[in-house]
Amino acid sequence: MGKRSVPRYPEEEDSGGCCGCLCWCCCFLFFIIAALAGTGAYLFYAYKPKPPSYSVNNMAVSQFEFSSSDLTLYTKLVASVRAENPNDMIGIKYAEGSRTVVSYRGTPLCSGHLPTFFQGHKNVTVMEIAMEGRHGFGSGLQGALEESEKSGNVPLDIFVSVPVELQLGTFNLRQIKVNVHCALVVDSLSPKKKPTIKSATYQGNVEF
Ligand SMILES: *[C@@H]1O[C@H](CO)[C@@H](O)[C@H](O)[C@H]1NC(C)=O
Repeated sequence: MGKRSVPRYPEEEDSGGCCGCLCWCCCFLFFIIAALAGTGAYLFYAYKPKPPSYSVNNMAVSQFEFSSSDLTLYTKLVASVRAENPNDMIGIKYAEGSRTVVSYRGTPLCSGHLPTFFQGHKNVTVMEIAMEGRHGFGSGLQGALEESEKSGNVPLDIFVSVPVELQLGTFNLRQIKVNVHCALVVDSLSPKKKPTIKSATYQGNVEF
């Protein structure tokens, strides 16, 4: 009995000491994590990140030609997109690897990409996006387009997908991908007449 109880006390003291050390480490870690989370939350609320907004201002068609020799439709146009960064402290860097597509009833007509640039806080920039493309026209595309032209309602979908980097001062926050879909109705798609934008609705999402 005596033999068993003697070595027990130092053992318990040891484990007690170790537990204290562990608790202290845990507290310290907890403190660090809480401080980081607090700083993050502070930055988040202090700088209130707001999503940028986009709208298509203008469109100019320079070429829109059916070629009967190779049965393709060649489209070349420039869309002016107004991008607004409403944030007080956050800058937006439009990075490489963006893609814009204009399609008519599911048929892509032309594509291009956004310029790469840095948009500072509280800034509005109008980007000129040049797009061109050639698409085979079978399956009634030409007929449908002519119908739309005649009625003065040409429905177009503009898809924009762009990787952007958010910057707080000179500090890079992270890269996200912004996707915007704009459903546009123009009165015509012809180089002879400047298209009028009759309506536009926007949907967007962000991929982290
Ligand atoms: C907005 O940002 C663009 C691109 O960086 C710049 O060219 C333009 O001057 C800025 N506009 C204002 C009002 O600061």
